Amino acid sequence: MPIGVFDSGLGGLTVQQAISARLPDQAVVYLGDNKHAPYGVRDHEQIYQLTQTAVERLWQEGCDLVIIACNTASAVAVKRMQETWLPKDKRVLGVFVPLIEAVTERQWGDNSPPREVDVKQVALFATPATVATRAFQRELAFRAIGVDIEAQPCGGLVDAMEDNDLELAEALVQSHVAALLRRMPNPQAAVLGCTHYPILKNSFQAALGDHVEVYSQGSIVAESLSDYLVRHPEFAESGGVRFMTTGDAKKVSTAATRFLGKQIVFNSA
Ligand code: DGL
Repeated sequence: MPIGVFDSGLGGLTVQQAISARLPDQAVVYLGDNKHAPYGVRDHEQIYQLTQTAVERLWQEGCDLVIIACNTASAVAVKRMQETWLPKDKRVLGVFVPLIEAVTERQWGDNSPPREVDVKQVALFATPATVATRAFQRELAFRAIGVDIEAQPCGGLVDAMEDNDLELAEALVQSHVAALLRRMPNPQAAVLGCTHYPILKNSFQAALGDHVEVYSQGSIVAESLSDYLVRHPEFAESGGVRFMTTGDAKKVSTAATRFLGKQIVFNSA
């Protein structure tokens, strides 16, 4: 069956591209809820309801496994869905845990007790809603001891990227990084905790300096999904990639093509 990849808008394309590069034969259906993006400034209940609706839409496409390629929805909705709502034959996987496993140098799915790790000071850049959940800090505390995290809510950045205003987006990266460095002058690692941000990875790296290791999710999530499918081959199926949006398909196709620098054609969901 195809794997569903969901984001509020264009950001999840960075994860889909990495998944399709890592697993080129895997059938994928991408759904962007562009009509309701950005999620990062909405309240938790709205984010939960919108994510649930999107997952149900992907079930209609036959996607029993859905990757929530949005940190905001992963932080707010995934645990609650898994614990209270998901039928037995369906799975949703967030993009947080693989990232934290990578930062804390763990094997995928290693749930052993927390231990000391090399990295001690971590900068987190994410949407205001993701930062407010403290989900990253909680998941990290399950796996590592003695790591300081300083989180910067990057207001405005997703809007600028959805509008393809890269000049504004780059200016916002400078100011958000400067704000974080005032509170944590010497981070060893930085986590791009929003799937839109990898498009601006070079700007984050330049503003942070070359000595800071910048983690983004695309290849990390793709690697962990590939491992998951070896353990759960019932969710794998060969086929192509399709793109759906709740927004205006023509406009979203144009924006996605600019966002990724390659042609992407969306259909209406
Ligand atoms: N790409 C989403 C994320 O990872 C963007 C959230 C939003 O729509 O604000 O958080």
